[in-house]
Amino acid sequence: MSFPKSFLWGASTAAYQIEGGNARSALWDWERKKGWERSGEACRSWDLFDEDLKLIKALNLHAYRFSVEWSRVEPEPGRFDQSVIDRYVSWARKLGSEGIRPFVCLHHFSEPAWLLREHPEGWLDESVSGRFLTFATRVARALAPVVSDWVTFNEPMVFLAGAYGFHQFPPGRWMLTDPRKQFIPVVMPHMAAAHKRVYGMLHDLQPHANVGIAQNVAAVEPARPGDEAAAHTWDLFMHRSFIDMIRDSQDYLGLNYYTRIFVSKTRVPWMPLGTLPGYAELEKGLTWPVFKMLGGRRDGKPRTGMNWEVVPEAFGPLVLDYHKSYKKPIYIMENGMAEPSQITRTEFLRGHLSSLKSAMQAGADVRGYFHWSLLDNYEWGSYRPRFGLYTRARRPADGADFYAAVAASGEIPNG
Ligand code: GAL
Repeated sequence: MSFPKSFLWGASTAAYQIEGGNARSALWDWERKKGWERSGEACRSWDLFDEDLKLIKALNLHAYRFSVEWSRVEPEPGRFDQSVIDRYVSWARKLGSEGIRPFVCLHHFSEPAWLLREHPEGWLDESVSGRFLTFATRVARALAPVVSDWVTFNEPMVFLAGAYGFHQFPPGRWMLTDPRKQFIPVVMPHMAAAHKRVYGMLHDLQPHANVGIAQNVAAVEPARPGDEAAAHTWDLFMHRSFIDMIRDSQDYLGLNYYTRIFVSKTRVPWMPLGTLPGYAELEKGLTWPVFKMLGGRRDGKPRTGMNWEVVPEAFGPLVLDYHKSYKKPIYIMENGMAEPSQITRTEFLRGHLSSLKSAMQAGADVRGYFHWSLLDNYEWGSYRPRFGLYTRARRPADGADFYAAVAASGEIPNG
């Protein structure tokens, strides 16, 4: 089977990671505070969109997912910068005139510094949802003539866990030790409500709008016999509960898949929901012996530059599972790997696309695949992991030719 003619081959990016100079974002000072490598001028995509467009065309893509930077569009509360909005409109128009469908994401981790000055509690404060709706409405009205595919939130759970759970993003709270206190009953519903309001607004504006989120999903496995319930608890919490909260306000299911995690039950009081979700990041923070002592497990798969296991064989079954649970069209909104890696991007793509194809053969209604990412970019604190089909200097990386051939033919070339 080839991929269907109508299948969308795309790439994803995010404003803060590629545009450069987003000094009004709350992340800008946060980088300094955390001692992160600075994002600086990133890929300079704010000024070099035409260069990016050339790459998108060279890859034969039919779709491009980018995000609009709230802190540029609304640099001060209630003051909208029309020249910024016009620039995003011009990008979408240029894409459209090349036959490339723009998918526009309204929130990809970065928020304006003023938002957290005015609402220091962030999404704990119900009124933030109104702020987001105001911004989204402004953007949507301007883009509506040229955009009808929308992503309200990128990885709401990763963002919320980072910002409210373990001090990774502003405002930097530590609430994940007991998510039942405020995280699940307050923060998540506020963001879900914001999604629903924006969903309604977009559909009032465009009855044919295609609206959803891009949800982080990992394949979850119990670390050992007896850990099944813990694995299920974590899967529900991290991957499914937000989708369930907005179940009737999604036209599609957007999935970001990178890896799998093993989950163990633990009695360590500070682990959320009595589980130890075996993320590579957690292993790094705890060190391997401590991680292992607490019940953490990794396996012998090749690892990427993020130290994530490469598990293509879990991808198709996961997609099929989400298809069965939610019965919505699916877009793979992100999938990719960081160099330096133990396998090449070409091998990574071949494995993941074959697995995806099997899921489609088994009935999953998948409409598109967006590779993360078009360019090497700012990986939230560091430029070391290189996720791009192109480098920051816009030279092709391994995998670019392969992906361009897939996008042109709808076939996976033989190895
Ligand atoms: C996702 C995120 C992207 C990118 C990618 C690779 O979680 O949406 O912004 O950073 O992971 O880590």
